[in-house]
Order: sequence, then structure tokens, then C-alpha cells
Amino acid sequence: MRQTVVTSILCFLLFSGVVSASEKEEEKKEKLPKCEHVDPYENLEGWLALKTPAERKCNHTTAKDDLSESEAKKTDWGIKSFAFDALSSEKLGPLRNVGKQAHKLCEEETYDASFSTSVVVIHHNEALSTILRMINGLIEFTPKSLLKEIVLYEDASEEDHVLTKHLEKYAKLKGLEDKLIIHRSEYRQGLIRAKVHASRLATGEVIVFMDSHCEVAERWLEPLLQPIKEDPKSIVLPVVDLINPVSFDYSSSMVAKSGFDWGLTFKWIYLPWEYFETPENNVKPFNSPAMPGGLLAMKREYFVELGEYDMGMEIWGSENIELSLKAWLCGGRVVVAPCSRVGHVFRMRRPYTSKPGMDTALYNAVRVAKTWLGDYEKNFFAAKPRGLKVVFGDISESIKVRDRLKCQDMKWFIENVYPELEPKVHDEL
Ligand SMILES: *[C@@H]1O[C@H](CO)[C@@H](O)[C@H](O)[C@H]1NC(C)=O
Repeated sequence: MRQTVVTSILCFLLFSGVVSASEKEEEKKEKLPKCEHVDPYENLEGWLALKTPAERKCNHTTAKDDLSESEAKKTDWGIKSFAFDALSSEKLGPLRNVGKQAHKLCEEETYDASFSTSVVVIHHNEALSTILRMINGLIEFTPKSLLKEIVLYEDASEEDHVLTKHLEKYAKLKGLEDKLIIHRSEYRQGLIRAKVHASRLATGEVIVFMDSHCEVAERWLEPLLQPIKEDPKSIVLPVVDLINPVSFDYSSSMVAKSGFDWGLTFKWIYLPWEYFETPENNVKPFNSPAMPGGLLAMKREYFVELGEYDMGMEIWGSENIELSLKAWLCGGRVVVAPCSRVGHVFRMRRPYTSKPGMDTALYNAVRVAKTWLGDYEKNFFAAKPRGLKVVFGDISESIKVRDRLKCQDMKWFIENVYPELEPKVHDEL
């Protein structure tokens, strides 16, 4: 999903515009003193005791020119390791309330779905401050009766970045040993297989997959559970808000559907402005042909019924398209719940290493095309001719799922779910 990176950069650029406008306003205001820096790796208790920058009346955003030597080192290390400013994140502290991000009509909504929920988080070379702020937010902003556990699955982080020991210490300090399932894989599974392994550790009725650098807004979970109550074969997506990788400022993003092109490359589909002029459309869940992938809620047994993710896929890429197609073609649906808001740090680049000598995104996409596109695979290979040379491995497990669930074909998908995908007139199909 190289395009996801492009999208992230675009979002980031868009967002930078917003930042500079608000910065201009801030210039007029009195300058706040810089927040003191407590390092969570060295002093976890001290860091966990920090109040928010607003309460401390200080500025957590760091600027290169006035940093101490150790702070400058931390910033460089953060950008290199995580593609965001870990110093700003550490200064921001262990918890913040990002406020009401959803449309104000969402406040009037009532929700009565009550599934025990497991939040499943894969982390690989993640910053301690961001993952802890996420966990603290989940504990703070999720009703106790709904949050069964948080599965923290460390996918073989490199030596400097192993978090498991810090997370265990955190669980102990906060008395969260029962809520947190902390697991470390010694071998790199890659995001996709790691998600499957981690989901198997979960015991809740619903699983929520979440990236390891998110922050939830108030009342984020309830709107995700409601559509599952209405139809247990639902995959429900929150609106992904933007957390700036430099300032860590939070800003709400546009409500959009997810789609893809014939190359199976993810893309956003923006809804026309008129759509939101109808008040109830601002709160009502709506169908989405696909999903960005990092954030979703679904019944755990439904995930198993759909054959989980394709375990033959490598590292990352296309698993989101695969799961979307499986859901739609095999009797389920993918919906966006606009009242659910989760912020995500849009990193400056993807800091992962891939498999050497392998285009894992293309490899995975070919597996999806071969399993799910039927005759339409022609369109895929026209968009991705290099895919023709890919030796895509054994896809028999996915085909079994397709046959067992008597799934519809791609023609049905285009006609019923995603007419915009229709081939151009000059194509044969
Ligand atoms: C906070 O610090 C950043 C970086 O130095 C600066 O751009 C911003 O204007 C500061 N904001 C306030 C309110 O002092």
C-alpha cells in the first residue's frame, strides 16, 4: 500500500496548512514555556505522573533550535526510528482528552450494544510514549463493562525498541495485569500474520484491530458496536483523525469511504458535501466498499468464519482489500460509523523494513487477485503487469473459504457494492 503512504503525506500536507494558520494565531498569544522532559524509558513512574500540557501550562511541541543536547538526540532518534518526533510525544505525557471530535449530533445518539471487546494491537519498533498514551486513553475513554482486554503483541522489535519489559512494568504500576495481554514474538511475523496470532489470544466477543500509535476520542467504541448488534456480519470502521507527527496536535479529518482501483491500491472516496446537509447522515453508518486496514471492529467469531487474514501474505499490504472483499462477497458488509473517532499518527514515512528482494505489497495483491477477482484479474494485471511474473504461492486456504461460504463473484460486487470500479468502456469486460 505504497499509496497509503502517499495518502498519509497528502493528509500531512493538508494538515500542515491548517497548522500554519493556527500558528499564526498563536503568535499573537503569549508564548508558553517549554514542557520539561521526563524520559519514560528511564523514569516510567515519573512520566506516568505527568499532567497534561494544558494543566502544566507548557508547550510540548519541540523546535530544533532551542533543544538541549539530550533532547536533540531524542528528536533525531525518534525521527529515525519511528518517523515522528518522539520528544514531542514524550513531553505531551501519558494521557490527553482529545475532546469531542465527532459531529455534535452524535452526542444525542444512544447506543445499547454491549459486547465484551478485545482491542488487538500489533507493535513493531514502536515508541513507548505513544503506545502508553493509547492504552491510557483506551482505559479512560472506554466503558469498563465493554473493554475486556487489550492484547499487546510485539512483533519482534529490534533490540533498542523492545517494549515488552516496559509494558509489563506499566501493567504492574497501574494494576492492569488482568486487562493487558502482553505477548512477544521472537520472530518477525509481519503485520498480517501477527494480527492473526494476536487475535487468537483475544477472548472478547468483538475484536478491534488498532494501530500502535493511535489515541481514541471519547465515546469511540459504542458507535462501532451498534452496527454489529444490528448485523453480526458487519465490519465497522471509525473515522481516522490526524495526529501530526511533529507537533502531535490532533485534528479531525473528513468523513470518507474507502475504495481501491484495479491495481488493488487503496484510495479514499470523498462523499459529496450535499450528503452531509441531511442532518442524520452525519451520524448514520454508511457502506464502504473497502477499509484502510489499521482500524476496525468485528465479531471475533466472524473474523474466524471469514478465514481470518490470509496467512500466506507477507509483512503488509492488501490484507485490507482481501478482508473487505471477503466480507462483501460472502454475506457481510463494511460500514463506517461517523460518530466513532480515533486519531492516528500519520508518520512521515513507513519506518518498516520489508522482506529483502521482495515487493510484498505486490505479492499480496496478486494473491487477492487470484483468489477473488475471477475474470476481472485481467484488469488487475493490466494495472500491475509486473504481477504476472510473481510466484504467488499456495492460495488453496483462501479458495476453501470462498467455496465454503459460497461467496458471490466480482460482477456482483461491482453491481451491488462498488459500481465506480466499473471497467472503462474500451475494456472487454
Ligand atoms: C509551541 O512551540 C512551537 C515550537 O517551538 C511553536 O511553533 C509554537 O508557537 C509554540 N506555541 C505556544 C503557544 O507557545
